[in-house]
Amino acid sequence: MDDGADLVSTIHNDYQELIPDILGGTEETTTGVIRLRAMAADGALKFPVVAVNDAKTKNMFDNRYGTGQSTLDGIIRATDILLAGKVFVVAGYGWCGRGLALRARGMGADVIVTEVDSVKALEARMDGFRVMPMEAAAEEGDLFCTVTGNIHVLRKEHFERMKDGAILSNSGHFDVEIDIPALAALTEGVRKDVRPFVDEYTVAGKRIYVLAEGRLVNLAAAEGHPASVMDMSFATQALACEWMARQEPRLTPAVYDVTNELENGVASLKLASMGIQIDALTDEQQKYLADWRHGT
Ligand SMILES: NC(=O)c1ccc[n+]([C@@H]2O[C@H](COP(=O)([O-])OP(=O)(O)OC[C@H]3O[C@@H](n4cnc5c(N)ncnc54)[C@H](O)[C@@H]3O)[C@@H](O)[C@H]2O)c1
Repeated sequence: MDDGADLVSTIHNDYQELIPDILGGTEETTTGVIRLRAMAADGALKFPVVAVNDAKTKNMFDNRYGTGQSTLDGIIRATDILLAGKVFVVAGYGWCGRGLALRARGMGADVIVTEVDSVKALEARMDGFRVMPMEAAAEEGDLFCTVTGNIHVLRKEHFERMKDGAILSNSGHFDVEIDIPALAALTEGVRKDVRPFVDEYTVAGKRIYVLAEGRLVNLAAAEGHPASVMDMSFATQALACEWMARQEPRLTPAVYDVTNELENGVASLKLASMGIQIDALTDEQQKYLADWRHGT
């Protein structure tokens, strides 16, 4: 079970002798799936991997509700800032960004979304958020949080435009979304450690605060996601391992999606654990849906 494809790439680079005994792997997060698909496209992937991250029972819940909540938790624990009335810039409107933007708005912040994908940007706008390029958002934001999986989403030209007191954090990938070396290079004097998880940089007389050294703020400054959302991710992981082990003949090296049956099984178990029941299609409804002669 991998997270970020770190284990898979270490095995492929440094421990290739283990590969013949490996039945397969599962991948927990967006960045890892992107890497694994790139490995598969290059013909470099030597065993099958299930993209657990891409299952609805993972990204719709863990990424959206888990990251949405725990990221705000990390920012608030680190800074004790009041979000109401602040301009909160969310970079990336994927699963994590949607959850984060919605929660920041719920706390009274004026939320700006930045995107590179037109459809996601349009969705963010129609969800009621302001959308603009980071260059413009940089001048407005009191807080910034990156959740893109990409590098240098906040960089030199943005730092130079920011207001005094801007607070930067990342809840996306590793420590690469904020270009910290570029910020350090712009900084006058030394970086100051002003309170746990908060570093102060001074750029052209303006103070810029970076949380958790640009690493995942929800893991560094808070406790990550609550167990009651990770249960769905780990159930999907465990059942994906079982599915993989049961495949005859053995799966060939590629990235596989979690089956619908497995996803529905996890969702049903979660509903049952919450004491929630739902309706089932009647025979008449099933026939109606299956018959193209019905309807207009
Ligand atoms: N902190 C955590 O605990 C946690 C949990 C789950 C996922 N993640 C990580 O969060 C990141 C995002 O995950 P996701 O599921 O939301 O992915 P996603 O693919 O659904 O969304 C990422 C979004 O970022 C956008 N994007 C890419 N480059 C951008 C740029 N330069 N500026 C603005 N937007 C840009 C993409 O268009 C996309 O809409 C990944 O790195 C993932 O591994 C972190």
